[in-house]
Amino acid sequence: MKILGIETSCDETAAAVVQDGQEILSNVIASQVDLHSRYGGIVPEVASRQHLLAAIPIIQEAMAQAQTHWSDLDAIAVTIGPGLAGSLLVGVNIAKAIALAQGLPLLGINHLEGHIYANWLEGSAPDLPALCLIVSGGHSDLLLMRGHGDYQPLGRTRDDAAGEAFDKVARILGLGYPGGPAIEQASRDANSARYRLPRAWLKDTDDFSFSGLKTAVLHLAAEKGEEGGENEKAAIAASFQEAVVDVLVTKTVSAAKRLGAHHILLGGGVASNRLLRQRMAARSPIPVLTPSPILCTDNAAMIASCGYFRLTAGTCSGWDLDIAPNLRLG
Ligand code: KG4
Ligand code: ZN
Repeated sequence: MKILGIETSCDETAAAVVQDGQEILSNVIASQVDLHSRYGGIVPEVASRQHLLAAIPIIQEAMAQAQTHWSDLDAIAVTIGPGLAGSLLVGVNIAKAIALAQGLPLLGINHLEGHIYANWLEGSAPDLPALCLIVSGGHSDLLLMRGHGDYQPLGRTRDDAAGEAFDKVARILGLGYPGGPAIEQASRDANSARYRLPRAWLKDTDDFSFSGLKTAVLHLAAEKGEEGGENEKAAIAASFQEAVVDVLVTKTVSAAKRLGAHHILLGGGVASNRLLRQRMAARSPIPVLTPSPILCTDNAAMIASCGYFRLTAGTCSGWDLDIAPNLRLG
């Protein structure tokens, strides 16, 4: 069964063809990073206009790379939210047009659920129940996946998402955008033990909070940054990364043990962070699955995979499918 996935929720225009929910036949991603980096962050209006320009050529490219004709497809899966309204509208309307023209089922997909399904795309079969940590630019969500489409929400961020904290701290340190890869790069040979930055443990809850840590970096950078130059900046970046990873790993592993999960599944842009991947694997008593970095950040293969499991469960969307910019999972 071949499904075309379309993803336009944020600043990546992506299309992919996936067979039977697990085999990637094509995975085409056009990033808008260069376009937004001059503004230091995503400008929603610019993003939606760019999706409009890029979406059709990207879909055609995904179909060509997969050597797939429209008549070979079994369904169209598209992200409906959460995300930027104008950007989501582009993907959803193109998906509807293709589905209607080709007489194919239409599947509206939750972007966060897509991030979880990236774990089905590289030959592994996650064992459920699984503890899922989705850490991206807009979300830090901890969920228990009990079955396909069956989620128990456990915790989420109370303020900044993990990726948002990386982006803001990178801006404070003048490291550029997007912040996650910039902080990871700056931290590479730096002393991560130089500063013991605060960790918000929020006892007796699986929620997260990163805004206090961000403020601590702001004060530290104002105090030390100027005098210490690049070395000092790198030490602050590394100490920040250490604090975020410590909280994410400790809380995820503790929830996984408490709930008897069989696997830990990571997803979202921050899951491509090497320290997070290594620490999670080292500290977890159960196996940890982490998609390749290209499948952690936004892509359409994960949307097509999720669509497959939805379609085989017998559910598809109607023609009144609409965007849901504030959609939650579970
Ligand atoms: O999942 P994603 O591509 O888009 C959203 O759905 O938000 O995640 C983007 C976020 C950005 O905040 C970016 O800074 C962060 O993921 N990110 C990273 C790394 N690569 C991307 N954060 C930490 N380390 C990385 N290597
Ligand atoms: Zn995402």
